[in-house]
Amino acid sequence: MMKILILNGPNLNLLGLRSPQIYGNQSMEQYLEFLRECYADVTLEYRQSNHEGEIIDIIQQVGYDIESYAGIVLNAGAYTHTSLAIADAIEAIKLPVVEVHISNVAARESVRHTSMIAPVCRGSIAGFGMDSYRLAIEALI
Ligand code: DQA
Repeated sequence: MMKILILNGPNLNLLGLRSPQIYGNQSMEQYLEFLRECYADVTLEYRQSNHEGEIIDIIQQVGYDIESYAGIVLNAGAYTHTSLAIADAIEAIKLPVVEVHISNVAARESVRHTSMIAPVCRGSIAGFGMDSYRLAIEALI
C-alpha cells in the first residue's frame, strides 16, 4: 500500500489547545482518524517534532524511499520562515514535499509571509484549516 508521511513541526502537538481561533479545536489525532477514513487505500504515517534537527533526520530517513512513499506533507510550523537547513534537506531528497499551513500565513504578520521551504517544495497549501492537510494528500495521490 502506498504511504504518505505527514510531518508536523514545532507546537503542532498542541493542535486543539493552541490558539483555537487560528488553528481550530481539533487535535491532530482526531483529524488523522478522519483522514484515515477518507484514504483507506493509503497508509498515512504521522510524525511530529519540536526539534529542527529531528525534522531533518525524519526527512532524510524517508526521503529516498520512492518505492514506498508518494511524498511528504510537511507543516514545518515556524521553521517554515527560518530554516535553511530544512529547505536544504527537502532539496536533497527524492520524494516530493507539499508545504502545508492551517492558517493563511499571507494574511498574518509579515514575518510569516516568507517561506524558506516553498521554493524547494512541489507546492504549497495554506489557509484551509485542517483541510489543508487533506488537500495536500490529494496533490500527492
Ligand atoms: C503554521 C503557520 C506558522 O506561521 C506557525 O508558526 C505555525 C503554524 C500553520 O499551520 O498555519 O506554527 O504553520
